[in-house]
Amino acid sequence: MSNDPSTDSMTAESTVSLDAMNRPEPSPELDRLYADYARISTSPLWTQLDDLMPIVPSPKAIPYVWRWHDLLDIARRSGDLVPVGRGGERRAIGLANPGLAPTAYATPTLWCAIQYLGPHETAPEHRHAQNAFRFVVEGEGVWTVVNGDPVAMRRGDLLMTPGWAFHGHHNDTDQPMAWIDGLDVPFVHDMDFGFFEFGSERVTDEASPSVSRSERLWAHPGLTPLSAQDSQSSTPIAAYRWEFTDQALREQLKLEDEGHPATLEPGHAAIKYTNPTNGGDVLPTMRAEFHRLRAGAKTAVRHEVGSSVWQVFEGSGAIVLNGDRRELTKGDLFVVPSWIPWSLEAGTEFDLFRFSDAPIVERLNFQRVYLPESNRYLPGGRG
Ligand SMILES: [Fe+2]
Repeated sequence: MSNDPSTDSMTAESTVSLDAMNRPEPSPELDRLYADYARISTSPLWTQLDDLMPIVPSPKAIPYVWRWHDLLDIARRSGDLVPVGRGGERRAIGLANPGLAPTAYATPTLWCAIQYLGPHETAPEHRHAQNAFRFVVEGEGVWTVVNGDPVAMRRGDLLMTPGWAFHGHHNDTDQPMAWIDGLDVPFVHDMDFGFFEFGSERVTDEASPSVSRSERLWAHPGLTPLSAQDSQSSTPIAAYRWEFTDQALREQLKLEDEGHPATLEPGHAAIKYTNPTNGGDVLPTMRAEFHRLRAGAKTAVRHEVGSSVWQVFEGSGAIVLNGDRRELTKGDLFVVPSWIPWSLEAGTEFDLFRFSDAPIVERLNFQRVYLPESNRYLPGGRG
Protein backbone atom coordinates (compact mmCIF):
# COMPACT_ATOMS: atom_id res chain seq x y z
CA MET A 1 0.00 0.00 0.00
CA SER A 2 1.29 3.42 -0.89
CA ASN A 3 0.91 6.49 1.23
CA ASP A 4 0.94 8.64 -1.89
CA PRO A 5 -2.28 10.72 -1.77
CA SER A 6 -2.55 10.59 -5.59
CA THR A 7 -3.04 6.82 -5.33
CA ASP A 8 -5.79 7.44 -2.82
CA SER A 9 -7.56 9.65 -5.32
CA MET A 10 -7.62 6.74 -7.80
CA THR A 11 -9.33 4.52 -5.26
CA ALA A 12 -11.93 7.25 -4.75
CA GLU A 13 -13.19 6.65 -8.32
CA SER A 14 -16.22 4.73 -7.14
CA THR A 15 -17.42 7.76 -5.20
CA VAL A 16 -17.62 9.98 -8.32
CA SER A 17 -21.25 10.50 -9.26
CA LEU A 18 -22.09 10.04 -12.93
CA ASP A 19 -24.95 11.35 -15.04
CA ALA A 20 -27.17 9.24 -17.30
CA MET A 21 -24.58 9.45 -20.11
CA ASN A 22 -21.85 8.03 -17.84
CA ARG A 23 -20.19 11.44 -17.54
CA PRO A 24 -18.95 12.84 -14.22
CA GLU A 25 -21.32 15.32 -12.60
CA PRO A 26 -19.98 18.89 -12.29
CA SER A 27 -17.88 19.38 -9.18
CA PRO A 28 -15.17 21.76 -7.92
CA GLU A 29 -12.62 18.96 -8.34
CA LEU A 30 -13.63 18.46 -12.00
CA ASP A 31 -13.42 22.21 -12.62
CA ARG A 32 -9.91 22.23 -11.14
CA LEU A 33 -8.96 19.24 -13.30
CA TYR A 34 -10.16 20.92 -16.51
CA ALA A 35 -8.45 24.17 -15.53
CA ASP A 36 -5.21 22.21 -15.23
CA TYR A 37 -5.80 20.71 -18.69
CA ALA A 38 -5.89 24.23 -20.09
CA ARG A 39 -2.91 25.34 -18.00
CA ILE A 40 -0.67 22.73 -19.64
CA SER A 41 -2.26 23.23 -23.11
CA THR A 42 -4.20 19.99 -23.29
CA SER A 43 -7.86 19.18 -23.82
CA PRO A 44 -10.01 16.19 -22.89
CA LEU A 45 -11.34 14.38 -25.97
CA TRP A 46 -14.50 13.17 -24.20
CA THR A 47 -15.93 16.72 -23.91
CA GLN A 48 -15.72 17.37 -27.67
CA LEU A 49 -15.94 14.01 -29.42
CA ASP A 50 -19.29 14.78 -31.09
CA ASP A 51 -17.86 17.90 -32.71
CA LEU A 52 -14.50 16.34 -33.69
CA MET A 53 -15.87 13.06 -34.98
CA PRO A 54 -19.49 13.50 -36.06
CA ILE A 55 -21.38 10.46 -37.35
CA VAL A 56 -21.54 12.12 -40.79
CA PRO A 57 -19.90 15.38 -41.95
CA SER A 58 -21.39 18.36 -40.17
CA PRO A 59 -20.21 21.39 -42.18
CA LYS A 60 -19.95 24.89 -40.77
CA ALA A 61 -20.35 26.25 -44.31
CA ILE A 62 -24.04 26.57 -45.14
CA PRO A 63 -25.86 26.01 -48.43
CA TYR A 64 -26.14 29.49 -49.94
CA VAL A 65 -27.18 31.27 -53.14
CA TRP A 66 -25.70 34.55 -54.47
CA ARG A 67 -27.60 36.45 -57.17
CA TRP A 68 -25.67 37.54 -60.25
CA HIS A 69 -27.52 40.86 -60.51
CA ASP A 70 -26.54 41.69 -56.90
CA LEU A 71 -22.89 40.79 -57.56
CA LEU A 72 -22.74 42.70 -60.82
CA ASP A 73 -24.27 45.79 -59.24
CA ILE A 74 -21.76 45.84 -56.40
CA ALA A 75 -18.90 45.11 -58.84
CA ARG A 76 -19.89 48.06 -61.06
CA ARG A 77 -20.11 50.40 -58.08
CA SER A 78 -16.71 49.16 -56.91
CA GLY A 79 -15.38 49.88 -60.39
CA ASP A 80 -16.47 53.50 -60.02
CA LEU A 81 -14.94 53.96 -56.57
CA VAL A 82 -12.00 51.60 -56.10
CA PRO A 83 -8.95 51.61 -58.40
CA VAL A 84 -7.24 48.39 -59.44
CA GLY A 85 -3.47 48.24 -59.15
CA ARG A 86 -0.49 47.44 -57.00
CA GLY A 87 -1.42 46.79 -53.40
CA GLY A 88 -5.00 45.62 -53.68
CA GLU A 89 -3.90 43.82 -56.86
CA ARG A 90 -7.41 42.81 -57.96
CA ARG A 91 -10.91 44.26 -57.84
CA ALA A 92 -12.32 40.95 -56.65
CA ILE A 93 -15.41 40.48 -54.52
CA GLY A 94 -15.26 37.25 -52.55
CA LEU A 95 -18.35 35.17 -51.85
CA ALA A 96 -18.43 34.98 -48.06
CA ASN A 97 -20.29 31.94 -46.78
CA PRO A 98 -22.23 33.13 -43.69
CA GLY A 99 -21.41 29.88 -41.91
CA LEU A 100 -17.68 30.64 -42.22
CA ALA A 101 -17.77 34.29 -41.03
CA PRO A 102 -15.64 36.34 -40.58
CA THR A 103 -13.69 34.83 -43.50
CA ALA A 104 -14.58 35.42 -47.14
CA TYR A 105 -14.42 31.70 -47.83
CA ALA A 106 -17.12 30.15 -50.01
CA THR A 107 -16.34 26.73 -48.49
CA PRO A 108 -13.57 25.44 -46.18
CA THR A 109 -11.36 24.80 -49.22
CA LEU A 110 -12.65 27.05 -52.02
CA TRP A 111 -12.56 30.76 -52.73
CA CYS A 112 -14.85 32.25 -55.34
CA ALA A 113 -14.93 35.90 -56.34
CA ILE A 114 -16.40 38.08 -59.03
CA GLN A 115 -13.61 40.10 -60.60
CA TYR A 116 -14.31 43.35 -62.46
CA LEU A 117 -11.94 45.15 -64.83
CA GLY A 118 -12.91 48.53 -66.28
CA PRO A 119 -12.21 49.78 -69.82
CA HIS A 120 -8.46 49.71 -70.63
CA GLU A 121 -7.55 48.81 -67.05
CA THR A 122 -4.66 46.51 -66.18
CA ALA A 123 -4.45 44.21 -63.18
CA PRO A 124 -0.68 43.96 -62.49
CA GLU A 125 1.23 40.70 -62.70
CA HIS A 126 1.90 38.58 -59.63
CA ARG A 127 2.15 34.93 -58.71
CA HIS A 128 1.16 32.81 -55.75
CA ALA A 129 1.21 29.24 -54.58
CA GLN A 130 -2.60 29.17 -54.74
CA ASN A 131 -4.06 27.59 -57.87
CA ALA A 132 -6.60 29.65 -59.78
CA PHE A 133 -8.92 29.69 -62.76
CA ARG A 134 -11.39 32.11 -64.36
CA PHE A 135 -14.79 31.26 -65.78
CA VAL A 136 -16.61 33.74 -68.01
CA VAL A 137 -20.40 33.91 -67.84
CA GLU A 138 -20.68 36.99 -70.06
CA GLY A 139 -18.56 39.49 -71.98
CA GLU A 140 -15.18 39.48 -73.67
CA GLY A 141 -12.26 41.81 -74.36
CA VAL A 142 -9.91 40.95 -71.49
CA TRP A 143 -6.68 39.03 -71.98
CA THR A 144 -5.19 37.17 -69.03
CA VAL A 145 -1.43 36.88 -69.50
CA VAL A 146 -0.13 33.66 -67.91
CA ASN A 147 3.66 33.27 -67.78
CA GLY A 148 3.88 35.74 -70.66
CA ASP A 149 1.25 34.03 -72.85
CA PRO A 150 -1.76 36.30 -73.63
CA VAL A 151 -5.02 34.30 -73.34
CA ALA A 152 -8.28 35.77 -74.64
CA MET A 153 -11.23 35.53 -72.26
CA ARG A 154 -14.62 34.96 -73.86
CA ARG A 155 -18.05 33.81 -72.75
CA GLY A 156 -18.12 30.17 -71.65
CA ASP A 157 -14.34 29.81 -71.53
CA LEU A 158 -12.43 28.30 -68.60
CA LEU A 159 -9.02 29.97 -68.19
CA MET A 160 -6.31 28.36 -66.09
CA THR A 161 -3.72 29.93 -63.79
CA PRO A 162 -1.85 27.10 -62.04
CA GLY A 163 -0.04 27.84 -58.79
CA TRP A 164 3.15 29.94 -59.09
CA ALA A 165 2.42 31.04 -62.68
CA PHE A 166 2.83 34.80 -63.15
CA HIS A 167 -0.42 36.37 -64.28
CA GLY A 168 -1.99 39.76 -64.96
CA HIS A 169 -5.05 40.89 -66.89
CA HIS A 170 -5.64 43.74 -69.30
CA ASN A 171 -8.86 45.03 -70.76
CA ASP A 172 -8.38 45.94 -74.41
CA THR A 173 -11.83 47.49 -74.90
CA ASP A 174 -14.04 50.45 -73.97
CA GLN A 175 -16.33 48.12 -71.99
CA PRO A 176 -15.91 46.73 -68.47
CA MET A 177 -15.81 42.96 -68.02
CA ALA A 178 -16.68 40.74 -65.06
CA TRP A 179 -15.99 37.07 -64.52
CA ILE A 180 -15.57 34.61 -61.66
CA ASP A 181 -12.29 33.53 -60.11
CA GLY A 182 -11.95 30.18 -58.34
CA LEU A 183 -9.00 29.51 -56.05
CA ASP A 184 -7.93 27.13 -53.30
CA VAL A 185 -7.23 30.12 -51.01
CA PRO A 186 -8.97 28.77 -47.88
CA PHE A 187 -7.18 25.43 -48.08
CA VAL A 188 -3.77 27.02 -48.67
CA HIS A 189 -4.34 29.68 -46.01
CA ASP A 190 -5.51 27.29 -43.31
CA MET A 191 -2.69 24.83 -44.03
CA ASP A 192 -0.05 27.64 -44.06
CA PHE A 193 1.12 26.62 -47.54
CA GLY A 194 1.03 30.04 -49.23
CA PHE A 195 3.74 32.07 -50.98
CA PHE A 196 3.27 35.29 -52.98
CA GLU A 197 5.46 37.39 -55.25
CA PHE A 198 4.86 40.67 -57.10
CA GLY A 199 5.62 40.83 -60.83
CA SER A 200 5.47 43.47 -63.55
CA GLU A 201 3.27 46.57 -63.11
CA ARG A 202 1.98 46.06 -66.63
CA VAL A 203 1.32 42.71 -68.27
CA THR A 204 4.49 41.45 -69.91
CA ASP A 205 2.85 40.96 -73.32
CA GLU A 206 0.04 43.32 -74.36
CA ALA A 207 -0.71 41.48 -77.60
CA SER A 208 -4.29 40.33 -78.10
CA PRO A 209 -4.25 37.11 -80.16
CA SER A 210 -7.50 35.12 -80.40
CA VAL A 211 -5.62 31.88 -79.57
CA SER A 212 -2.85 31.54 -76.98
CA ARG A 213 0.48 29.81 -77.59
CA SER A 214 -0.55 27.21 -74.98
CA GLU A 215 -3.65 26.29 -76.98
CA ARG A 216 -1.69 26.09 -80.22
CA LEU A 217 0.59 23.51 -78.59
CA TRP A 218 -1.89 21.58 -76.43
CA ALA A 219 -5.55 22.08 -77.30
CA HIS A 220 -6.05 19.40 -79.92
CA PRO A 221 -8.37 16.53 -78.85
CA GLY A 222 -6.47 13.35 -78.01
CA LEU A 223 -3.17 14.70 -79.35
CA THR A 224 -0.19 15.60 -77.19
CA PRO A 225 3.14 16.94 -78.42
CA LEU A 226 6.00 14.41 -78.37
CA SER A 227 8.21 17.24 -77.15
CA ALA A 228 6.40 17.26 -73.76
CA GLN A 229 5.26 13.80 -72.69
CA ASP A 230 5.88 14.04 -68.94
CA SER A 231 2.90 14.15 -66.59
CA GLN A 232 2.30 17.66 -65.22
CA SER A 233 0.47 18.39 -61.94
CA SER A 234 -1.58 21.17 -63.59
CA THR A 235 -2.95 21.29 -67.10
CA PRO A 236 -0.80 23.07 -69.69
CA ILE A 237 -3.97 24.16 -71.55
CA ALA A 238 -4.53 27.82 -70.65
CA ALA A 239 -8.05 28.04 -72.08
CA TYR A 240 -10.86 25.50 -72.48
CA ARG A 241 -13.05 27.12 -75.12
CA TRP A 242 -16.81 27.21 -74.98
CA GLU A 243 -17.34 25.83 -78.48
CA PHE A 244 -15.72 22.50 -77.47
CA THR A 245 -17.59 22.29 -74.15
CA ASP A 246 -20.89 23.07 -75.85
CA GLN A 247 -20.31 20.50 -78.56
CA ALA A 248 -19.32 17.77 -76.09
CA LEU A 249 -22.52 18.30 -74.12
CA ARG A 250 -24.70 18.53 -77.23
CA GLU A 251 -23.30 15.26 -78.54
CA GLN A 252 -23.96 13.47 -75.22
CA LEU A 253 -27.64 14.40 -75.42
CA LYS A 254 -27.83 13.45 -79.12
CA LEU A 255 -26.26 10.06 -78.37
CA GLU A 256 -28.80 9.57 -75.59
CA ASP A 257 -31.57 10.37 -78.10
CA GLU A 258 -30.13 7.69 -80.39
CA GLY A 259 -30.19 5.13 -77.57
CA HIS A 260 -26.45 5.02 -76.79
CA PRO A 261 -24.85 5.38 -73.33
CA ALA A 262 -23.44 8.88 -72.98
CA THR A 263 -25.12 10.88 -70.20
CA LEU A 264 -24.55 10.77 -66.45
CA GLU A 265 -28.25 10.07 -65.88
CA PRO A 266 -31.32 10.59 -68.09
CA GLY A 267 -31.34 14.11 -69.53
CA HIS A 268 -28.12 15.06 -67.73
CA ALA A 269 -25.01 15.59 -69.85
CA ALA A 270 -21.79 16.38 -67.97
CA ILE A 271 -18.08 16.76 -68.64
CA LYS A 272 -14.93 17.10 -66.55
CA TYR A 273 -12.18 19.40 -67.81
CA THR A 274 -9.01 17.28 -67.92
CA ASN A 275 -5.26 17.66 -67.89
CA PRO A 276 -4.03 16.20 -71.22
CA THR A 277 -0.70 15.08 -69.72
CA ASN A 278 -2.29 12.51 -67.41
CA GLY A 279 -6.10 12.52 -67.84
CA GLY A 280 -6.54 13.87 -64.32
CA ASP A 281 -7.95 17.10 -63.01
CA VAL A 282 -6.93 20.47 -64.42
CA LEU A 283 -5.45 21.60 -61.11
CA PRO A 284 -4.02 19.61 -58.16
CA THR A 285 -6.61 20.96 -55.73
CA MET A 286 -9.68 21.76 -57.83
CA ARG A 287 -11.94 19.93 -60.27
CA ALA A 288 -13.91 21.77 -62.94
CA GLU A 289 -17.03 20.38 -64.61
CA PHE A 290 -19.86 21.53 -66.84
CA HIS A 291 -23.41 20.18 -66.63
CA ARG A 292 -26.33 20.47 -69.06
CA LEU A 293 -29.85 19.32 -68.19
CA ARG A 294 -32.65 18.96 -70.68
CA ALA A 295 -35.71 21.12 -69.95
CA GLY A 296 -37.73 19.31 -67.28
CA ALA A 297 -34.89 16.96 -66.24
CA LYS A 298 -34.14 16.33 -62.56
CA THR A 299 -30.96 14.87 -61.11
CA ALA A 300 -30.87 12.18 -58.42
CA VAL A 301 -30.38 13.52 -54.89
CA ARG A 302 -26.72 13.17 -53.85
CA HIS A 303 -24.64 13.45 -50.73
CA GLU A 304 -20.93 13.94 -51.53
CA VAL A 305 -17.85 14.37 -49.37
CA GLY A 306 -16.19 17.67 -50.23
CA SER A 307 -17.60 21.02 -51.23
CA SER A 308 -18.40 22.70 -54.53
CA VAL A 309 -19.41 26.02 -56.05
CA TRP A 310 -21.77 26.21 -59.02
CA GLN A 311 -22.68 28.98 -61.43
CA VAL A 312 -25.65 29.02 -63.79
CA PHE A 313 -24.33 29.71 -67.27
CA GLU A 314 -27.59 29.73 -69.20
CA GLY A 315 -31.26 28.88 -68.69
CA SER A 316 -33.28 28.63 -65.51
CA GLY A 317 -34.22 26.00 -63.00
CA ALA A 318 -33.78 25.24 -59.33
CA ILE A 319 -31.35 23.76 -56.83
CA VAL A 320 -32.71 21.78 -53.92
CA LEU A 321 -30.23 22.00 -51.04
CA ASN A 322 -31.07 20.03 -47.91
CA GLY A 323 -34.72 20.00 -49.03
CA ASP A 324 -34.81 23.78 -49.58
CA ARG A 325 -35.72 24.64 -53.19
CA ARG A 326 -34.20 27.81 -54.67
CA GLU A 327 -34.99 29.18 -58.12
CA LEU A 328 -31.94 30.05 -60.23
CA THR A 329 -31.27 32.10 -63.31
CA LYS A 330 -28.25 33.11 -65.41
CA GLY A 331 -25.12 33.95 -63.42
CA ASP A 332 -26.48 32.92 -60.01
CA LEU A 333 -23.95 31.09 -57.83
CA PHE A 334 -24.50 28.59 -55.04
CA VAL A 335 -22.45 26.51 -52.66
CA VAL A 336 -22.95 22.84 -51.77
CA PRO A 337 -21.13 22.09 -48.50
CA SER A 338 -19.85 18.59 -47.75
CA TRP A 339 -22.53 15.90 -47.43
CA ILE A 340 -25.45 18.36 -47.84
CA PRO A 341 -27.96 16.59 -50.12
CA TRP A 342 -28.52 18.37 -53.42
CA SER A 343 -30.37 17.92 -56.67
CA LEU A 344 -31.00 20.07 -59.73
CA GLU A 345 -34.26 20.68 -61.58
CA ALA A 346 -34.24 22.21 -65.05
CA GLY A 347 -36.98 24.61 -66.12
CA THR A 348 -35.53 25.43 -69.53
CA GLU A 349 -32.43 23.70 -70.88
CA PHE A 350 -30.11 24.38 -67.98
CA ASP A 351 -26.32 24.91 -68.24
CA LEU A 352 -24.16 25.05 -65.12
CA PHE A 353 -20.43 25.33 -64.43
CA ARG A 354 -19.14 23.64 -61.27
CA PHE A 355 -15.86 23.51 -59.41
CA SER A 356 -15.03 21.44 -56.35
CA ASP A 357 -12.26 20.25 -54.04
CA ALA A 358 -12.67 16.67 -55.32
CA PRO A 359 -8.93 16.22 -56.16
CA ILE A 360 -8.04 16.83 -52.50
CA VAL A 361 -10.81 14.53 -51.28
CA GLU A 362 -9.91 11.73 -53.67
CA ARG A 363 -6.15 11.92 -53.31
CA LEU A 364 -6.57 11.51 -49.56
CA ASN A 365 -9.14 8.73 -50.09
CA PHE A 366 -12.06 10.38 -48.28
CA GLN A 367 -14.48 10.19 -51.22
CA ARG A 368 -18.04 8.95 -50.67
CA VAL A 369 -21.18 9.55 -52.68
CA TYR A 370 -24.56 8.43 -51.31
CA LEU A 371 -27.81 8.36 -53.27
CA PRO A 372 -30.60 8.37 -50.65
CA GLU A 373 -33.44 7.72 -53.12
CA SER A 374 -31.94 4.35 -54.06
CA ASN A 375 -30.14 3.91 -50.71
CA ARG A 376 -26.78 3.10 -52.24
CA TYR A 377 -23.19 4.31 -52.23
CA LEU A 378 -21.50 4.75 -55.59
CA PRO A 379 -18.49 2.45 -56.06
CA GLY A 380 -15.27 4.27 -55.23
CA GLY A 381 -17.37 7.25 -54.24
CA ARG A 382 -17.25 8.69 -57.71
CA GLY A 383 -20.31 10.06 -59.41
FE1 LIG B 1 -3.65 36.17 -58.65
